[in-house]
Amino acid sequence: MMGLWMLLLLHLHLGNAPWTEGVEEGGGLHVVCVSLPAPSNVSISSFNMEHTLSFLPGPETPSNTHFTVEILKQLHLRKNLWRSVAGCSELTAGQTCNLTRAFKDPLNQYRARVQAFTPIQKSNWTVSGRFQPLSDTVLGPPDVSVSGCGNCLLLQLRVPTTRGLQQHQQLKDLYRQLVLHVQRTRDGARFRLTLPYKEENVITYLQPGVEYCVTVSVTSLFNSNSVASKPYCAFTSPPQARSSLYVVFGLLAAFCALGFLLIGLVVYSGQMSLELLKRRLPRTLSYFLIQGQNGGSGPPGP
Ligand SMILES: *[C@@H]1O[C@H](CO)[C@@H](O)[C@H](O)[C@H]1NC(C)=O
Ligand SMILES: *[C@@H]1O[C@H](CO)[C@@H](O)[C@H](O)[C@H]1NC(C)=O
Ligand SMILES: *[C@@H]1O[C@H](CO)[C@@H](O)[C@H](O)[C@H]1NC(C)=O
Repeated sequence: MMGLWMLLLLHLHLGNAPWTEGVEEGGGLHVVCVSLPAPSNVSISSFNMEHTLSFLPGPETPSNTHFTVEILKQLHLRKNLWRSVAGCSELTAGQTCNLTRAFKDPLNQYRARVQAFTPIQKSNWTVSGRFQPLSDTVLGPPDVSVSGCGNCLLLQLRVPTTRGLQQHQQLKDLYRQLVLHVQRTRDGARFRLTLPYKEENVITYLQPGVEYCVTVSVTSLFNSNSVASKPYCAFTSPPQARSSLYVVFGLLAAFCALGFLLIGLVVYSGQMSLELLKRRLPRTLSYFLIQGQNGGSGPPGP
């Protein structure tokens, strides 16, 4: 860890080296035909260790203009050696440059610069701010799943799938600390937890059978630019208990429906069944039934 700090301090110290020298040198090289407006708003954005450079064409840039990108690695042995970036030597206005591969050393400090050109003209270079992958990237949230475990919540996390394998590994190394915001849905009562990053975490001492929502973000030692996940909600009680409750309610509803159906059938067939009974039941029984309905009067059948 001490080694890392030293390296970082060294970076910061060298950061004060005269960058402008390189810029002027570059400008001097191309001074012959500088006449295009220089690009503006050259900036580097980075999410989950994927780095992207964007820029705007200068005012009144002709439409046939192309743009080229170069980078400078600060701890390079040969100072102020700008290198072109593969795939970014002939961009058009509105295109961005993928610097993920070019900025592959997370601890190093880099700069990028953009120049406009046409077949006969060039612009001055416009240089970006200083960029260090490790500390300037924005850390997205991990993939989250939450489930209940009684009076606790089980939180399972995975490093998000990035497009590149190398960035995935770098992210894994960056994921050091978890910041959890836990909120009880019923009344909004909330608390915050910081834990060392692990794939499986248990949030304990919660109320059983109650819904909580958790948002997750990660930070690392040198980087606190993080984006929190959306809230993931779950009841503390185990999921099986909840589903069996649904089964009970379902059965109850089914029985009720069946009961109503039976009652309906009985009421509906009330009058008709009397006729049928007269025909089908043994004489004596139908006699008693008729007796009952007529209030006991009338002679017995033959
Ligand atoms: C290019 O830069 C030089 C000095 O670095 C400056 O004098 C000149 O005006 C610039 N040209 C344009 C087109 O901005
Ligand atoms: C470009 O940069 C200027 C100043 O640096 C800022 O005012 C402007 O909003 C930026 N434009 C865009 C599109 O970001
Ligand atoms: C940028 O380049 C990296 C490494 O080659 C790649 O994994 C990633 O998908 C690229 N990003 C975009 C937006 O093309």
